[in-house]
Amino acid sequence: MKDDFGRDIYYLRLSVTDLCNLRCIYCMPEKGVEKRCHSDILSVEEIEEITKAAVACGIRKIRVTGGEPLVRRGIVEICRRIAAIPEVEELCMTTNGVLLPQYAKELKEAGVDRLNISLDTLNAEKYRMLTRVGELENVLAGVRAALEAGFENTKINAVLIGGVNDDEIRALMDLTRQGSINVRFIELMPMGECADWSRERFISNSSVLKAAPELEEVGTAGVAKLYRLPGAIGTVGLISPVSSHFCPTCNRIRVTADGKLKPCLHSSREVNLRGLHGQELIDTIASAIRIKPKKHHLDDTMTSESVRNMNAIGG
Ligand code: GTP
Ligand code: 5AD
Ligand code: SF4
Repeated sequence: MKDDFGRDIYYLRLSVTDLCNLRCIYCMPEKGVEKRCHSDILSVEEIEEITKAAVACGIRKIRVTGGEPLVRRGIVEICRRIAAIPEVEELCMTTNGVLLPQYAKELKEAGVDRLNISLDTLNAEKYRMLTRVGELENVLAGVRAALEAGFENTKINAVLIGGVNDDEIRALMDLTRQGSINVRFIELMPMGECADWSRERFISNSSVLKAAPELEEVGTAGVAKLYRLPGAIGTVGLISPVSSHFCPTCNRIRVTADGKLKPCLHSSREVNLRGLHGQELIDTIASAIRIKPKKHHLDDTMTSESVRNMNAIGG
């Protein structure tokens, strides 16, 4: 359905847990987050009910997010139930990839269409530093597992951090030469853990074009501007929420693991969905879509108004 600014909202990002098996320095506190009481997070049944109501409001694409969705108990069943809703045209997941060797095949069988995998560096030591507890080899095994399970159009998401991984732009991009893998560079957004980091850490995606002037523009896909290295198979995407916000074409809403609908990633506005059923649930989602704000103000203020850490929203 359309929001009050005429944007077609058909994409729901559904967070199924705040927990994560990594502790990326820009996303999670070092000690992790407190495990919530079981009843604080949406049950499998509630997730299914909310998804069906969202579908009644015109949602056609669902992305399961976290925290890390694969640490949620019952994740395969959640995916199976969402995929079984006839109006859901595309079911995707954003994951850090660590548990994919264990889950990729099952997710494919459950009806997940596409995976986006977060990977900010190809240097094992840097990966340990960035994620505090992760091992690069596990994610690389996860990427292989996704390919082996038959997932196509898999995307690698790399958040660029000045002075940390901006020397790896080339190396990350070169993955697109190796097969049907797309690599996307994401501008770091100042929120939660990294809200007060120094300005040098926040670099514009123009640095990607500077590092590889031979990139050829090939179009757009969702929030990403697409390019290709000459002769490469996969594409290079630039997601630039800070330097060129894409609010005018925004097509999405979010639901948090505790059942709050967020009409905008960077707004503090949240609408509770828990305890609502039937027409009341549908009407509440529809009115939350209508009030989606026109734009965020990250570019001029460098502050997000969202009161949650990224792990509690899911990107
Ligand atoms: P596709 O379906 O493959 O196009 O995926 P996607 O880009 O919608 O999802 P993904 O989870 O891979 O998102 C990549 C990153 O883009 C997120 O982790 C966020 O950092 C950023 N992002 C996604 N949606 C938004 C948004 O609405 N606003 C802003 N500012 N950033 C977003
Ligand atoms: N800015 C940009 N992207 C972020 N992510 C987490 N925190 C931020 C941030 N502050 C990304 C992760 C992952 C996705 C779920 O969100 O790297 O790709
Ligand atoms: Fe976990 Fe993703 Fe946050 Fe890293 S960015 S700590 S993988 S939720």
